[in-house]
Amino acid sequence: MIAPVVIGNWKMHKTPSETEAFLSEALPALRDVAAGGAVVTVVAPAFTSIPLAARMLAGSGVGLSAQDCHWSEEGAFTGEVSPKMLAEAGCRYAILGHSERREFFAETNHRVNLKVKAALFWGMTPVVCVGEKRDERDSGRATLVVERQLERCLTEITLDKSQRVMVAYEPVWAIGTGLTPSPAEIEEMHRFIHRTLAVALGVERAAGVPILYGGSVAPGNAPSFFASDLVDGARVGGASLDPNSFLALVQQARDAGPSAPRA
Ligand code: PGA
Repeated sequence: MIAPVVIGNWKMHKTPSETEAFLSEALPALRDVAAGGAVVTVVAPAFTSIPLAARMLAGSGVGLSAQDCHWSEEGAFTGEVSPKMLAEAGCRYAILGHSERREFFAETNHRVNLKVKAALFWGMTPVVCVGEKRDERDSGRATLVVERQLERCLTEITLDKSQRVMVAYEPVWAIGTGLTPSPAEIEEMHRFIHRTLAVALGVERAAGVPILYGGSVAPGNAPSFFASDLVDGARVGGASLDPNSFLALVQQARDAGPSAPRA
């Protein structure tokens, strides 16, 4: 079974003191909901809040993620943060290839591939983001775009038994817009992603890869997505900034229960 996953991506929001306020308020309830692993709960603050979040989350069952990382262990890369630094700081996950990085910071599938390998090497779970733009969906190329992103981002990846990846399907046109595909459209894409993963990673490994939906997820629409056995949880931006809505989403994911591994 695949336990549901909810990842809050705070993007460029929350200073360390705001992070402290959020976690002080949310952590007691999050800890209860996340207890026993019924729902994998993860927050991805900005780099400057990671040390504080790591201290506050220690022993809580709530995981810590970076929003990006470089692929090198260290080096002359001004402004970058390495996977080794993030792993030592307490990150167990790294969001890689977010469409905002692709759009505003020239992220390429090749670089995402290097980052996925580096994150795995340093013991983190990469959360690889894929998704089509509006015009790509309108012209019937959504699956082609997602297939190419997955193939390139996951090239030459062989997962050993202790390693895990997650995939977040986030249509670019749904991020921060209040628009979403229908549950049926999401299911269709997740089925396609699973088939593509089976080719890229092998059938056995692909069966356990959580496939999350992201893009304008909020407590009002999440249960309709979580109801599907093909949707293993959500990556949440805007609605993860408020302790109450983030907690509500985690509870909804837990209530939806685990999904069966896909054949
Ligand atoms: P949103 O962002 O929930 O604000 O649409 C999702 C994301 O970018 O991960």
